[in-house]
Parts: sequence; structure tokens; C-alpha cells
Amino acid sequence: MSGDNSDRRTNFITIPDDTAGYRLDEFCIPKHYEDDLSRVLIPAGLINDRIERLARDIVDDFDEDGLVALCVLKGGYKFFTDLLDKIKGLNRTLGRSVPLAVDFIRLKSYVDDQSSGSIEVIGGDNLKNLTGKNVLVVEDIIDTGKTMQKLLTILRGVKPKCIKVASMLVKRTPRSSGYKPDYTGFEIPDIFIVGYALDYNEYFRDLNHVCEINEAGKKKYASK
Ligand code: HPA
Ligand code: MG
Repeated sequence: MSGDNSDRRTNFITIPDDTAGYRLDEFCIPKHYEDDLSRVLIPAGLINDRIERLARDIVDDFDEDGLVALCVLKGGYKFFTDLLDKIKGLNRTLGRSVPLAVDFIRLKSYVDDQSSGSIEVIGGDNLKNLTGKNVLVVEDIIDTGKTMQKLLTILRGVKPKCIKVASMLVKRTPRSSGYKPDYTGFEIPDIFIVGYALDYNEYFRDLNHVCEINEAGKKKYASK
């Protein structure tokens, strides 16, 4: 790690509560989801541009010690691959480079509700491999922040050299624990969104824009 990144936590694109977003017919939406969404909240192109900047910030903050990018599946997979592609691009073209290793985890909560109970880390290599490493946790969304706080407690147990968190989205919600990631793409209103690998009961991961699901969509894809 190098440099002063203290202002990164407050540096993100704010999508305001009163945003209109974009009409679905202004963008390309898969036919099978046309009736299930109310609007596009963040177009894939803007996501791509924002990730380009996050990659630059991360390359600025880390050094030749490198980092282990830890993907939180499944929702984090798009952000993870796009972010790493941008970092790799900078590594090819800058006069300095940040070596990357990758690992993948899934989180299982014991209670159905995401925001309560405890979590278990499943999959991935033995977490002990992270001891002494610079770890960058890559997550799709911070909602209440409680899941991430529990994950950080578990990760600190294996004593990495440092742990940073990059989240594509942070929800502005009164249910927030106050947790803020080190790198944030967008701060969004307190609505349920899908796309860009975020799901509703495993649907919509194959939608490239971040969109708001509508009532018909919630009904159609409700867990049986
Ligand atoms: N969409 C999908 N997954 C989520 C959300 C959301 O709005 N919040 C927390 N997990
Ligand atoms: Mg997630």
C-alpha cells in the first residue's frame, strides 16, 4: 500500500432519490425481462467508465507487493472481472504494476434474512492463504453493511497485511450499520435493483444494466 487514500471513501457517484433513471426503450433490454423492470438506473456504459476510475485509484494505492482480489460470489462476479480487466490494462501500460492474485468465496447466512444471524464463508482456497497478504474484497452491493462487517471480522482472524473493500454499489438506507467501503462505484436510493450480476431469486444476473425491478417482475420470479 502507498499514498493517502483517506478521501476515497467519500468519493463516489451519487444517484439521487428523485432520479428518473432512463426509460427501458432508450436502452437494449433482453426480451425476457422487458415486462419485469420499471427503469434503467445505471447504464452498463456508465458502470464501465466508473470502474475505469476505481481501477486507477486502486493501482495508485497499492504497490509492487501486489494484492489478492477476493470475489464475493455470485453477485460480485461482473464487477470483479471488469475491475480486474481494467487493473490489468493499467499494469500493461503504466511504468509500474500491481501483481494480482485471485480468490473466490461465497457467503452463507444461517438465517434467511441477509441482515441478521451469522455468516459462513464457503468455497475458495483456505482463508489462511490470505495471511500476510494485501486483500481487496470485491463485492456487488453494501446494503445494511452487516454482512460485510461479519466477513471482515472473519478475514481479520487470518491476519492479512491489510484488507480493503471495493463495492460497486452502496445503498442509502436507514437500515445501514454505518459501514462504508474503501472504494465505491455508486451510492443508490433505497430500492431493490437487479442486473450487472445482482439477482432477484437468481434471475436478472444476465442483464447488463442496473435496473429497478417492478411489481410484475417480483411476482413472476417470486421464490416458489
Ligand atoms: N438487489 C439485489 N441484491 C441485493 C440488493 C438489491 O437491491 N440489496 C442487497 N442485496
Ligand atoms: Mg453480494
